[in-house]
Amino acid sequence: MTFKVAKSLRAELLWWLMVPLGILFAFNSWRTIDTSRELANVAYDRTLQASVRTIAERVTVDQDGVHVDIPAAALEMFESQFQDRVYYSVHLNNGKLLTGYDQLPQPDRLHQPGLDRIVFFDARYKGEDVRFAIYSRPLFEQDNRLSAIVQVGETLSSRQALARQIVWDAMRDQLWMMALAAIFVVIGIQRGLRPLLTLRDKIQRRDEGELYPFNVQKVQTELQPLVVSLNQNMQRLQEELDARQRFIADASHQLRTPLTLLNTQAELALRAQEPAAMHAALIELHHSTRQTVRLANQLLSLSRAEPDSVRQLAFEPMDLTDFARSLTAEFAPAARSKQIDLGFEGEDACYISGNTLLLHELISNLLDNAIHYTPANGIVTIRVEAQHADIYLTVSDSGPGIPRSERLRVFERFYRILGTKESGCGLGLAIVKECAQAHEAVVSLSDAEEGGLKVTVRFPPSPHRHF
Ligand SMILES: Nc1ncnc2c1ncn2[C@@H]1O[C@H](COP(=O)(O)OP(=O)(O)O)[C@@H](O)[C@H]1O
Ligand SMILES: [Mg+2]
Repeated sequence: MTFKVAKSLRAELLWWLMVPLGILFAFNSWRTIDTSRELANVAYDRTLQASVRTIAERVTVDQDGVHVDIPAAALEMFESQFQDRVYYSVHLNNGKLLTGYDQLPQPDRLHQPGLDRIVFFDARYKGEDVRFAIYSRPLFEQDNRLSAIVQVGETLSSRQALARQIVWDAMRDQLWMMALAAIFVVIGIQRGLRPLLTLRDKIQRRDEGELYPFNVQKVQTELQPLVVSLNQNMQRLQEELDARQRFIADASHQLRTPLTLLNTQAELALRAQEPAAMHAALIELHHSTRQTVRLANQLLSLSRAEPDSVRQLAFEPMDLTDFARSLTAEFAPAARSKQIDLGFEGEDACYISGNTLLLHELISNLLDNAIHYTPANGIVTIRVEAQHADIYLTVSDSGPGIPRSERLRVFERFYRILGTKESGCGLGLAIVKECAQAHEAVVSLSDAEEGGLKVTVRFPPSPHRHF
């Protein structure tokens, strides 16, 4: 048998409380019917017993034989509104009928009347159920041989009516109790569910941006973990929203500066009278434009490296050594123009689970910084190697390095060390960090042997085997 999952919590609670209650009610009613029958028998058997004894006392013996005169009272005690039929007989134990009906039903052998013992039994007589009492009384005190057997029977209407009455009374009380229980159950469920429903209403009424936490104390202990995780979820969402808001504000602020500059430079170029002056202004304009494009590209890379976007990117097993080597080659012209000795170290294939787009951003920004901040004639070295199951990518240079106190802050978006003369927007290392995180890699800064900065990115190895 399969139970459908109830849609409504209230309905399910009600079901599980009321149905068992109904079963109990049915069971109890069934028991009551039995008891009521027994009770009615006890009450009416007393009348039968009294009637049998009264008749038995009127059996007398004299020299003419055995006589019996049935007193009116012995039969009148049965009178009731139900008009039950009463049958009686008085026999001698030798079979002689003294009075009453001959051939009344007899009890089975196990229920024979003994001395002074009244036996009750049910039997069919004249097409009706009849309850009989039978009693045997010795006629002489010292002699047991001759006794009178008195039998009285009554149809069942009165006792059945009494039994019905008892059942109905009991059922009526139980029905009242059921009704009261149902009311209490409904009230209980209503009260018990109220905190939950209030919580639901509160959630429904909330506007999109409302993310303050719910009061954990207002719900029952069982629901508290739910509210706690709801609150945690909202807090995370709030933090993410805040970060995004801050980023948008920062980004638009950062974009405004170069755009204003572009505008000024364009006006300058327009106002220039001499072709030489105009040419100079255009060169400036071109330079600023490149910077602005670079900023826009950096912003784009950053949004691509956000956890939200990363989830849609594919990560595949790839050889980091090979990838980094070919990317380094692309930076050779930039290094050459500053007479920087750009070297690559790494022979063995090092497999990681990577995304080429993000890795390209990560390595480009590190090489770009190294070449950018290292003075002419310096050294920049990039290495890829496996160590203790992890894969290490390092970029070291002979530049000025980053003071320890700044090493955490340089990863923040738009953060640039004060007094940095080179142009930039402070997004490079933030992009490096996001790209690394997308690969579950860790970035750290230290002093390079070459004298400048050493950036280390530790990748977990690819979970796949390679041959
Ligand atoms: N290789 C490096 N050597 C010295 N300083 C560095 C190096 N890389 C980054 N920095 C410092 O860290 C700051 C943040 O770098 P980054 O996030 O790439 O922004 P940006 O290069 O646009 O300024 C830079 O302004 C610079 O002062
Ligand atoms: Mg940079």
